[in-house]
Amino acid sequence: MQLMLAPMEGVIDYPMRELLTALGGVDRCVTEFVRVTGRLLPPRVFHRLCPELAAGGTTASGVPVYVQLLGGQAAVMAENAARAAELGAAGIDLNFGCPARTVNRSDGGSVILREPQRVHAIAAAVRAAVPAQVPVTVKIRLGYEDTSLLLDIVRGIEAAGATELTVHARTKRHGYRPPAYWEEIARAREVVSLNVIANGEIWSPADALRCRQVSGCDDLMLGRGALCRPDLARLVAAAARGEAPASLHWPDILPMLLQFLELNLAHYDACYAPNPLKQWLVYLRAYFPQAAAVFEQVKRLRDPAQVRHALLANLRAAAGNENTAAAA
Ligand SMILES: Cc1cc2nc3c(=O)[nH]c(=O)nc-3n(C[C@H](O)[C@H](O)[C@H](O)COP(=O)(O)O)c2cc1C
Repeated sequence: MQLMLAPMEGVIDYPMRELLTALGGVDRCVTEFVRVTGRLLPPRVFHRLCPELAAGGTTASGVPVYVQLLGGQAAVMAENAARAAELGAAGIDLNFGCPARTVNRSDGGSVILREPQRVHAIAAAVRAAVPAQVPVTVKIRLGYEDTSLLLDIVRGIEAAGATELTVHARTKRHGYRPPAYWEEIARAREVVSLNVIANGEIWSPADALRCRQVSGCDDLMLGRGALCRPDLARLVAAAARGEAPASLHWPDILPMLLQFLELNLAHYDACYAPNPLKQWLVYLRAYFPQAAAVFEQVKRLRDPAQVRHALLANLRAAAGNENTAAAA
């Protein structure tokens, strides 16, 4: 089984990929989307969204990172894909799932699913422009308004020579509302021999096992669930082997918060660095109630030194609790 970390614009960026892949269990990452409009983008755009390009296209833990492109014009998508490959991308991923109105209005993301032949043409042009040894993968939703074009879309992607396909099991209309329709992925799998990766609403190892069973997919992509439970990939991988390892507890998460702050400070301007930490705390509180209290403490802080101070105080308090518990 292969487990992918989902692309998430503004959330799963370089520092988050570094942090999550260090925990193990993730086999591949995808960058946030690179928006391709009318022109060949300069190398700095690719390096900004994928700093891993400077390190052989992998995270420090050795997990490959594919560069995701989003756009509606086959020729310019192909040119940019070739550039990303030249710069050392481990693979190219094409985004046909973004539901954002501004993106869809300017001919990008899920709106292209209304025209399966265009999805095919873009994937085929990118495949032809990128060296054969560089994988070209595609990420779709079940459709735009409904699922009526799903099988045509999927057949077109296979005919384009794509290496793999990830299906987020919702239409654009469904947005991010549960449930995810994993059974629709099973329907798509029946018409192609291409490897299909299932995505959507996997929050626990039990969800992952059910998703594999319903979709028939071996491989999964984890999005928000991996932010709420940073060790989700490791737990899912173990569950698939029939093992049940100990999961992380809040005292394990606190040092990761500090590490995340430092990674963001190294990567972004200091005034911006606390924001991703606050955003992550919002995800974490869905699984760790303690994250809500830390969020309240830091939500108005803008100085990274003050944020660090608050995190260290929590770390000391957690260590104190553990010592008290051990002494008792
Ligand atoms: C904040 C946010 C940003 C996202 N950005 C991207 C993106 O840049 N590219 C993409 O293909 N999908 C993007 N997605 C979709 C996710 O990759 C994934 O398909 C979706 O969240 C469903 O998986 P999940 O239920 O495990 O979160 C984004 C989702 C969210 C919530």
